[in-house]
Amino acid sequence: MALIKRAMVRAFTSFEAVFEYAFGQRNNPFVWLGALGWYFYWIVAATGVYLYIFFDTGITDAYASVEYMTHEQWYAAGIMRSLHRYASDALVVVVVLHIFREFAFDRLRGRRFFAWLTGVPLLGFIYICGISGYWLVWDQLAQYVALATTEWLDTLPVFGEPIANNFLNSTTLGGRFFTLMVFIHIFGPLFMLLLMWVHVQRHSAARVNPPRPLAIGTLLALLVLSVVYPAVSQGPANLDIVPAELGLDWFYLAAYPLLDIVPGGQLWLYFFIGFVILAVLPWAPPAKPAPAAEVHLDNCNGCARCFDDCPFGAITMVPRTDGEAYDVEPVVSVDNCTSCGICVGACPTATPFRRAGPLQPGIELPQLTIASLRDALVEAAGRRTGPARVVVFACDMSAVDCIEESDTRGATVVRLPCVGMLPPSFIDFTLKRGHADGVMIAGCAEGDCHHRLGNEWTAERMARRRDPYLRQRVDTRRLLLSWLPRGASARRRRALAEFRAALKELDRE
Ligand code: HEM
Ligand code: SF4
Ligand code: SF4
Repeated sequence: MALIKRAMVRAFTSFEAVFEYAFGQRNNPFVWLGALGWYFYWIVAATGVYLYIFFDTGITDAYASVEYMTHEQWYAAGIMRSLHRYASDALVVVVVLHIFREFAFDRLRGRRFFAWLTGVPLLGFIYICGISGYWLVWDQLAQYVALATTEWLDTLPVFGEPIANNFLNSTTLGGRFFTLMVFIHIFGPLFMLLLMWVHVQRHSAARVNPPRPLAIGTLLALLVLSVVYPAVSQGPANLDIVPAELGLDWFYLAAYPLLDIVPGGQLWLYFFIGFVILAVLPWAPPAKPAPAAEVHLDNCNGCARCFDDCPFGAITMVPRTDGEAYDVEPVVSVDNCTSCGICVGACPTATPFRRAGPLQPGIELPQLTIASLRDALVEAAGRRTGPARVVVFACDMSAVDCIEESDTRGATVVRLPCVGMLPPSFIDFTLKRGHADGVMIAGCAEGDCHHRLGNEWTAERMARRRDPYLRQRVDTRRLLLSWLPRGASARRRRALAEFRAALKELDRE
């Protein structure tokens, strides 16, 4: 499995490099796939509400009302119809990519299983909503979808009477099933929204909105497509005639041609097996859970910064239990904590300067304490002499593999699970105590932190916009923030070399 994931990561990173070049790191659509899913959902919902105003929900007049929208009112309802169609197709594309990407980047195992597991039924909902939508146009494609779907459903041993009988010819046609489809097409998306909300429940500050330039650009692209290539119907349905040639929507209806070669019952079985495999992937193989963050109340002042910064909603603030004068204290949920350490970077008591008593902050990772991090820093820094010595704080996920000490003379690497674990006081400490001439923080690409928010919070802390701030006395010319995707070794090394050259220049001043 690890090999497959590695190959997929390589494929994604090379493909995404092109998009990064075109859109910039911040607006790279690949790092916003989940948010784009939400965005397309809202476009589909808004256009759907508009279409509903003009849509006739009876089977006899449905087609005519869609034709009116497409041709008579092409400038408004027609465009809305096309937007509705294309945003639904785009939703499928981004969600499929989202699934592959979350899998490849291993954001589903261990305590992160929840989003994956709740995503699996979402996939089913997308298809139910999409397929029922095709039905409503009541053109020849709808006729094909209605007949194929009902015949396929009839292979399940749940319906007393074959429901496909409703669509055998125009005399058996009843509005009952059609009305049911209208109902499903309206209430399906509402349930889907509920499930989308559940899907991101374990994420604090879930990224459900793409950045504005990406949102505007995507909408414009859909609009242009809608005007140049409007969605149209395929001739009125007529149950007495078998449609000769149909244009299928491969985003939603790709499985239908399979029904010609695979018996319906067998196809259900394949889908069922596929869904089960998808659902168990978070445990293939099971992740070894790292210990969760631990709270040390003796050193906690209840400031709640750890609560604010935890990306996985693993911290709750509860009334104080130790009789200290503070109102609240943090409690870590072992079930939700992914051991990213970002809460440690947020804690104002995690400062390496402290001399009195043992160095123990209000919250920390038992497997990588702040005291051991300080020791690692001092030890690593001691290995370098000469001009422009740099300490690189590199995250395990995207940076450590890129910066080998052997090929970065003058630099030394201290690894962290996430750069968000680094309290800004460590930069001050490193420079002030002469452990290095410069500090490089090397983490994941913007918007694509493996631990969701580590690089974003770090950038804000270093820019003195988020607590705990980097102290004013730190010369920020001696600090380099390097956000790059996985595998960008050459770019990392180039950034480091340029930084060292700048440090040498600075020392000459
Ligand atoms: C309508 C469909 C979907 C939408 C709109 C959607 C949206 C999102 C959003 C907004 C996030 C949070 C991103 C962040 O804040 O960092 C997310 C995370 C995630 N989604 Fe989806 N998603 C959908 C379907 C799926 C499906 C079908 C799967 C897999 C079967 C899936 C798996 C995941 C995983 C594994 C994460 C990351 C969890 C983590 O970081 O711990 N999603 N999704
Ligand atoms: S280690 Fe990460 S997930 Fe766990 S409590 Fe701290 S910030 Fe939250
Ligand atoms: S950030 Fe530190 S001091 Fe503040 S509540 Fe959390 S553990 Fe306590």
